[in-house]
Amino acid sequence: MISKKMAKEINDQIQRELFSEYLYLQMAAFLKGENFDGMAKWMTIQAKEEHSHAMKFFEFLYDRGENVILQKIDSPKNDFKSVLEVFKYAYGHELTVTKNINNLMALAKKENDYASESFLKWYVDEQVEEEASFDKIVKILQKIKDSGNGLIMLDKQLGKRE
Ligand SMILES: [Fe+2]
Ligand SMILES: [Fe+2]
Repeated sequence: MISKKMAKEINDQIQRELFSEYLYLQMAAFLKGENFDGMAKWMTIQAKEEHSHAMKFFEFLYDRGENVILQKIDSPKNDFKSVLEVFKYAYGHELTVTKNINNLMALAKKENDYASESFLKWYVDEQVEEEASFDKIVKILQKIKDSGNGLIMLDKQLGKRE
């Protein structure tokens, strides 16, 4: 059993993970439109990962005897001007998600909810990776600037993601 408050917060987080999926799918669409197929593939895989994050919370709620209540998902930003803007925005988004996960962890600790704490640890670790992977791409893009060759090489590199 978990508290009603924790169940509500986890339902909110499911919505946010699904929003992340939606945002990254929109970014994949932008990248595809720019003919960066490798980056679009990378971002599509990222979107799928966000879906799996939502589903882990989904299963957890049922394991703890609570119900999933799906919420409205807003349209994500779609007026990107550059590849750099896309990845910078995504990095900023991940920083927000890290705060959300930290808030959930703080609640679990406050409520002495050890099962949720243990479950959330996976997300704490995952956010370290998420921040790092976007931050790395932003830094590479800042070095590349407007070099067409650099962008083509990065596109090829990111397209290798499985
Ligand atoms: Fe996520
Ligand atoms: Fe993420």
